[in-house]
Amino acid sequence: MPVDLSTTIGSLEFPAPVMTAAGTAGHGAELSAYVDLSSLGAVVVKSLSAEPWPGNPAPRVHQTPSGMLNSVGLQGPGVAVWVRDELPGLVERGARVVVSIWGRSVEDYAAAARSLRAAEDRIVAVEVNLSCPNLDGGAHLFAHDPVATTDVLRSTEMLEVPRWAKLSANTDRVVEVARAAQSAGAEAVTLINTLIGMIIDTESRRPLLGGVSGGLSGAAIHPVAVRTVYEVRKAIPDLAIVGAGGVTDAITAIELILAGASAVQVGTATFADPRAVAKILDGLRTWCEAHEVSQLRDLIGGAHQTG
Ligand code: FUM
Repeated sequence: MPVDLSTTIGSLEFPAPVMTAAGTAGHGAELSAYVDLSSLGAVVVKSLSAEPWPGNPAPRVHQTPSGMLNSVGLQGPGVAVWVRDELPGLVERGARVVVSIWGRSVEDYAAAARSLRAAEDRIVAVEVNLSCPNLDGGAHLFAHDPVATTDVLRSTEMLEVPRWAKLSANTDRVVEVARAAQSAGAEAVTLINTLIGMIIDTESRRPLLGGVSGGLSGAAIHPVAVRTVYEVRKAIPDLAIVGAGGVTDAITAIELILAGASAVQVGTATFADPRAVAKILDGLRTWCEAHEVSQLRDLIGGAHQTG
């Protein structure tokens, strides 16, 4: 019998539990040269605002031990141009599209959500990015505060597709914030965004990244992601979780699933190997076969079982 890799996130069914992470697979069908996008659970596109935004000054990325630091600063074409230029290519390739949105203010999020309404028949969900550390030096980290999180999510209520909230482990209030997100209508939380870090160039004796600080991602943050998913699952067992943070292979994906994630997103690994997301999906199938797991969903939250 083939392994059943399907999963459920809130009201949505997905045939596979592996997705791209926002910001790591471009805005459109860039990865389709390497991966059959229709085989993935979803393609989560880089966060979009209502208007085009140029992002932060270069340099924007730097490799770190076991990961990378980025201060891209949410560069993007804006929702309307994205719907016109990028969405058709994703739809044509059979991708289930999750759109990430961002803003500097509650009104910005509302504007992005309003612009997306024209595309709701072609997307499956919206991931509300409340946790980018790279905007104005981290001045808009809505996910650090339950009230701000509630206000942003309420402002996107006009969307008819399910909304997920992308949260941060840079705060000790993540459980409280996840609860607020759920109460404000999020069907799922994505855990975690990058951790705030910094590199100093010892030759120039100045911050290396154009944005000064940046978001750390990759294998280095995986244990933080596992801990955060575990804590939120334990506190709010009825809230769906999409796990992200240092998923590099089947084992790191399974860890997040056992901690409580219903699906995982692959991010930094894609920069090293554009086929990573497909390889991890294949690896999950192989792992399940080797461990006689017929349905992957039976593993979700398994680390919480006693006895
Ligand atoms: O800077 C960036 O574009 C990163 C976004 C994020 O981490 O959400």
